[in-house]
Amino acid sequence: MTKSAGSTIPAKIDEEYYQISEEILSSFPKFRPPVDLFRFNEEALTLVPIIRKGQRLTNEQVEEVHALCLAENLFVARSDHPIYSEHMVKQLDLVLQDSNLKESELADICMRALIMRYEAFAEQPVRPVFDPLYKDIMVFTEILWLDKHRIKLFMRRLSHDYSLGNHAFNSLIVGTWLLLRVMEGGELRRRDLDRAALAFFLQDIGMAKIPAFILNKPGSLKAEELEKVVLHPTVSYKIMQKLDLAFDELAQASLEHHERLDGTGYPQKSKGQQISRIGRIAAIADSFAAMITKRPYAEAKDPTQAAQELAADQKRYDGQLTGYLAAALLTGAVS
Ligand SMILES: [Fe+2]
Repeated sequence: MTKSAGSTIPAKIDEEYYQISEEILSSFPKFRPPVDLFRFNEEALTLVPIIRKGQRLTNEQVEEVHALCLAENLFVARSDHPIYSEHMVKQLDLVLQDSNLKESELADICMRALIMRYEAFAEQPVRPVFDPLYKDIMVFTEILWLDKHRIKLFMRRLSHDYSLGNHAFNSLIVGTWLLLRVMEGGELRRRDLDRAALAFFLQDIGMAKIPAFILNKPGSLKAEELEKVVLHPTVSYKIMQKLDLAFDELAQASLEHHERLDGTGYPQKSKGQQISRIGRIAAIADSFAAMITKRPYAEAKDPTQAAQELAADQKRYDGQLTGYLAAALLTGAVS
């Protein structure tokens, strides 16, 4: 039940409508709301439509709508959720203020926002495109900070179709899941979560500079094509340096996500303890993210099978970390 306008809204209405907060209302175009708006009619105990979507409002109507909102008596139908969520995708911080959203809706909106931000940044890796991406990553970490178990909502949303944005999202989620798992019972600082999340999300951004025909090539790569691919961790790091982003997690995730414990990785061929914990997590997140998506040269693997394959490869991947992931998937803890 929602308390509103001095009366109590019946539960059935609560299920079918969201109450609109002032923040959300102020994010709509003032004179042309993108959704139907309703108010509660106390006599009839029902919601009545007051504004139709796309309708041009008069100044008086704008004021009336605002007053209803302040009185907690302004609603949008859940059936308008696609429009409403489209709107929130572009202004993700609104999800933090909207207590009407179901957890699954929150996760869906957040996922779509992050992928959209990533794809824009991959196209144009410059500060004005980075800033909204950074802001949305901070919303993502806030969502987790309020309840760390929510990482499971995101683990259920890993993508099985390949795109740069989907891969970055998968890497972010698996990397963050592993970090939270490792830090369970320990003291994880908010700043460390923020930095690691950004690092896992952007570690592969250098791939955006590699021509698509190389990325999508089904056969083996020519020497000069391979050279370009091998450079991408360094390119990722350079993109961040250009934006004056300098902290350890970013350097570790981007430069080490293709390093392997036995020294068979690239670009440095680092070994064992030379690879940081963030770098080891980044490597598993990147490999797992790639294994579970369909590529021109490989079918998508079942996540449990992919995690088990990584866990069996202790020469190259940190066995404790891959063990956590395989166990969680096997027991259904994150599916
Ligand atoms: Fe990579």
